[in-house]
Amino acid sequence: AKKPAGIPEAEPKPVNKVGIIGAGLMASQLAQLFIYRLGVPVVMKDVKQELVDKGCAHVRNEFRKMVEKGRLSDGKASYLSGLLKGTPDYADFADCDFVIEAVFEQMEIKKQVFAEAEAAIRPDAILASNTSSLSVTRMASDLKHPERVIGFHFFNPVAVLPLVEIIKTQKSDEVTLATAFDLAKKLRKTGILVKDSPAFLVNRILTRMLVDCLALVDEGAGFRHVDDALLALGLPMAPFELLSLVGLPVALHVMETLSRAFGAERFPVNENFKRVVAAKKGGIYIREGKSSRVDPEVEQMWV
Ligand code: 3HC
Repeated sequence: AKKPAGIPEAEPKPVNKVGIIGAGLMASQLAQLFIYRLGVPVVMKDVKQELVDKGCAHVRNEFRKMVEKGRLSDGKASYLSGLLKGTPDYADFADCDFVIEAVFEQMEIKKQVFAEAEAAIRPDAILASNTSSLSVTRMASDLKHPERVIGFHFFNPVAVLPLVEIIKTQKSDEVTLATAFDLAKKLRKTGILVKDSPAFLVNRILTRMLVDCLALVDEGAGFRHVDDALLALGLPMAPFELLSLVGLPVALHVMETLSRAFGAERFPVNENFKRVVAAKKGGIYIREGKSSRVDPEVEQMWV
C-alpha cells in the first residue's frame, strides 16, 4: 500500500529496546506505553535514584490498575513490570535502539542530556525529544549525529490520547523519520508530521485558546464560568482543568516560547498566571472527592 504523504519510503529500523531520559509524569507515561505496546525492555533514567524509584512505582501502579480493570492478567502485569529498569546513569542505554528525553523544558538542559545520551548510545540509535515547544533542530545542533534526532511529542494522558507529533529537524534523515512513523503505528498512535516551529501545531492552537481563557478571567469572568461554557460547548475537558493536567509551569513555558516567537500581542504571557505559577504548586482547583472548588490562594493572587 502507498504510504501517506510525508512518510519516507526508507526502511524503518527495528526498536527492540527503549531508553527514556527523565522519570517524571510524562516520562513514566511513556515508559508504560512503550512497554505495553511494544513489549520490549525499557530503561528509565533520572538524576537521582529516588526520582527513578518514584517513576518506576508509577508505571507498576498503572499496570496494577489495568489488572483491577480486568485488562491485564496478574502474570502479564508482573511480566510487563519486569521489562522496566530504572537507573541513575546512562550505561544501560548502550544497547537501546530508541532513546527519548522528557526532562525539564529548558533548552540548555535538553542539549545537555542529548550530549550525555549521545556519548552512551550506539551511533545508529535514534534520539528523540518529547518537547512541548522547543526547537528540536537547536537541541541537536551540537551533536555528532544530528541526522538521527527527531521530535516525538505525546499528549497527556499518553495512554488515552492517540496523537503524536513527529517533528523533522533540518537534519533528520529519512530512516529516522520512517522509524518514527513506524513506531507511532506500533504504539497505536496517529503520527502527524509537523514543522519544527515554536510549540509545533497542537500546543500553538491550545495555547491560543488558553491565553484568551486567562484574559477572560482578568476581565472578571470566573474560572468556573469559563470552564463550564467550554465544557458545555463539547470540549472533552474544561480549559482550566486541562491547565492543571498539563501542569501550570509547562503551560507557562509554552506560552513564553510562543510569546517570544510570535510577539506578546498575539501570545501575551498573562501576569496573574505567571504570579500563580511562581507562588504555588498544584492547579487552579482544589479537588474535594468528585467535586472541586477554585483554590482561594489562586483567587487572592489574581488582581
Ligand atoms: N492515564 C491513563 N488512563 C486515563 C487517564 C490517565 N491519566 N485519564 C483517563 N484515563 C482513561 C480512563 O481510565 C478511561 O478509560 P476507560 O474508559 O477505558 O476506563 C478513559 O481514559 C476515559 O476517562 P474518564 O472516563 O475518566 O474521563 P473522560 O472521558 O472525561 O476522559 C480525558 C478523560 C481522556 C483526560 C479527556 O478529558 C480528555 O481527552 N481531555 C483532554 C486532554 C488533552 O487535551 N490533553 C492534551 C494536553 S496538551 C499536552 O499534553 C501537550 C504538552 O506538551 C503540554
